[in-house]
Amino acid sequence: MAEEKQVETTGHQWDTEEGYPLQEYNNPLPKWWLYSYYATVIYAVIYWVLYPAWPIPGGFTKGILGWSQYNQLADETASAMKAKEVFNTKLAALSSEEIIKDSQLLQYAVSGGKAIFGDNCAPCHGSGGVGSKAGGFPALVDDDWLYGGSLAAIEETIKGGRAGQMPAHLEASGGSFSSTQVNDLTQYTLSLTGRSTDSAAAARGDELFHGDAGCNFCHGDAGNGSVKGSSGGEKLDASIGAPDLSDAIWLYGSDTATIQATIANGRSGKMPAWEVDSEGTNRKLDELAIKQVAIYVHSLGGGQ
Ligand code: HEC
Ligand code: HEC
Repeated sequence: MAEEKQVETTGHQWDTEEGYPLQEYNNPLPKWWLYSYYATVIYAVIYWVLYPAWPIPGGFTKGILGWSQYNQLADETASAMKAKEVFNTKLAALSSEEIIKDSQLLQYAVSGGKAIFGDNCAPCHGSGGVGSKAGGFPALVDDDWLYGGSLAAIEETIKGGRAGQMPAHLEASGGSFSSTQVNDLTQYTLSLTGRSTDSAAAARGDELFHGDAGCNFCHGDAGNGSVKGSSGGEKLDASIGAPDLSDAIWLYGSDTATIQATIANGRSGKMPAWEVDSEGTNRKLDELAIKQVAIYVHSLGGGQ
């Protein structure tokens, strides 16, 4: 028979029957467990004293540190506002050209500008500035600009707004050209991107473009638009906003019918003004917001 292990008892015994004593053993808890237990008790008491803990009539014990989630939130908000304030002060003091040279400031301006763009500009220009031909809303992600892609030009566009005036040319629409002449002008315009189907018409259109119709005074002698183009050796005024007709990017659409309709009936795309004291939309942006959204647009890929 195996030797019976001696176990510590409390000394209490219920049953005295020989051989089968029913005794109360005393098995102490492991020391590591016991000390961890005491530690948690002490921790809890310290916690109750320092932090909000127990519900009591009319509220709860507040703890001597005075901590609360509301205070914590308020502190964090205050320090975030302070950081923002520091950035905003810098943005206000520096020119846009200086801002984009500082990668941290640039990042801050772009992320602020992106939010402003989403709220105010995306309804027309599409999210991310992809534009919409149906509405005549130019894409802002390419390097084709109606009014110029420098920071200064973009800022000027946003502040004061723009109104592109493409006159009607068809007699029936208030212009002074016949439908044949409008067709000739359309063929010449198509030829600028190598798409003319009637070279005789295109040649007549060329003459009109640089002659009676005077398209070149706005679109340039080479038809490459008022930002890049020139007429009679003089650089054109970029604020005319006449698109480049010799690239593959179209404000209203690339198909013949759309181009012909533009030449016949004219267009008048309107970009609202956002500066606080301008007459534009009833939604306005302050100086700082305009700076940020201009930097965002400039950063979209086509900035010059
Ligand atoms: C109501 C519609 C509308 C809203 C809103 C709008 N735009 Fe425009 N935007 C236009 C139109 C239309 C044009 C083209 C004007 C033209 O055809 O001459 C334009 C032109 C521009 C241009 C010039 C593009 C070029 O090629 O030179 C920029 C830059 C621009 N918008 C930025 C913005 C920004 C930034 C906002 C928001 C603060 C904004 N737009 C809000 C309609 C809008
Ligand atoms: C007074 C200046 C002016 C004259 C003259 C002018 N245009 Fe324009 N044209 C513009 C402007 C500005 C636009 C852009 C309209 C807008 O922003 O809505 C435009 C737009 C166009 C477009 C649309 C381009 C696109 O990307 O969708 C075509 C095509 C065009 N013009 C052809 C002509 C032809 C051909 C003539 C001569 C018969 C002519 N234009 C004369 C200023 C002019």
